[in-house]
Amino acid sequence: MLAMRLNDCHNIDDFRRLAKQRLPWPVFDYIDGAADDELTRARNTAAYADCDLVPDVLAGVEEIDTSITILGKQSALPLILSPTALQRVFHWQGERAVARAAEKFGLWCGISSLATVSIEEIAALIKSPKLFQLYVHKDQGLNRSMIERCQAAKFDCLALTVDTIVGGNRERCARSGFSSPPRFTPSSLLSYVTKPAWAMNYVFREKFALPNLDTHVREGTAEPVSIQEYFGTMLDQSMNWKTAERIRADWGGTFCLKGVMSVADARRAVDIGANAIMLSNHGGRQLDGARAPFDQLREIVDAVGGEIEIICDGGVRRGTHVLKALAAGANCASGGRLYLYALAAAGQIGVERAIGLLKDEIERGMKLMGVTRIDQLDRDRLRWR
Ligand code: FNR
Ligand code: LAC
Repeated sequence: MLAMRLNDCHNIDDFRRLAKQRLPWPVFDYIDGAADDELTRARNTAAYADCDLVPDVLAGVEEIDTSITILGKQSALPLILSPTALQRVFHWQGERAVARAAEKFGLWCGISSLATVSIEEIAALIKSPKLFQLYVHKDQGLNRSMIERCQAAKFDCLALTVDTIVGGNRERCARSGFSSPPRFTPSSLLSYVTKPAWAMNYVFREKFALPNLDTHVREGTAEPVSIQEYFGTMLDQSMNWKTAERIRADWGGTFCLKGVMSVADARRAVDIGANAIMLSNHGGRQLDGARAPFDQLREIVDAVGGEIEIICDGGVRRGTHVLKALAAGANCASGGRLYLYALAAAGQIGVERAIGLLKDEIERGMKLMGVTRIDQLDRDRLRWR
């Protein structure tokens, strides 16, 4: 079989295959993998197939508008690029590639606490809306420092991740020994040697760093640790609603809780004055068996819709998935792997191609549904099997 190339990628799953071809397997499995039996990861996408769209026809759809306002900022598509860690490991262009692609398409871009580019550099690089994802560390000085740096750099939103109180059981990573920074163990060495393009770029291009953390901690930047160990030893397991409220107050700007799943927690998010929740199970990487965001969406919309913005995160691989989430009542959708496979496969041009394909799918889907604006999508247009 001939090797795949970028032009062979016509959907997100094609990018997944290209990423698999180009990455050492421990790195691919870190992106692709999830917790335990990976049931939740699979359900996140499968949930969309249990719901059908009911199109209207003859609706005059030559002009359509895919834009919406998310957290007070204009977005050209109803889609956010979720924050994800360690992008320099996936492709040498790392977060810069993702941020530039987001700006080009007029989308919100998420930057992880475990990003390999600094808060300040991202702020200087793009003008489009950006969200910083906060992990609450035991080191209070580090938490304060990240919030202050985001304030100084004028980030548009702070998203506090609340579903990683301990690390999920990622068995693919346990088998491969994947760590941050990558450690070249005897058993994994072969996988790195067989992907020389990745290995050359990793070794000879800019050195791996975690510049939002490394002023305070060595773990993850200078000392290799698994992500599970990092969560277990560095993050603050005593974090509770008071902590969330205090962080919202310290930050003082637009605030989102990432990883809310229950109605009770969604109500508390409203009570503490959060502007948005990301309905998310961390792409199935944390609690396996957790319900899929799209399955849980209607309950949440019925309880707190209109009081807080609801972002349906995870499992999105198609434009029609985004349309289904919106019709069910989400303000927008978001995802990680939908752009990460493309980043890993081909850097910035890969991410641009992936977002371009999703844009085409959203536009085509709206036309075939007979809608010209996002707010015309509602539950009347959906049927569950
Ligand atoms: C993530 N995600 C994540 N979330 C977060 O709050 N901070 C982080 O640093 C990361 N890092 C990260 C790395 C990788 C490789 C993946 C795949 C995911 C979770 C991410 O923001 C989002 O919730 C999921 O990616 C959604 O699922 P899909 O879209 O990947 O199916
Ligand atoms: C992950 C992180 C870092 O899911 O949130 O791997």
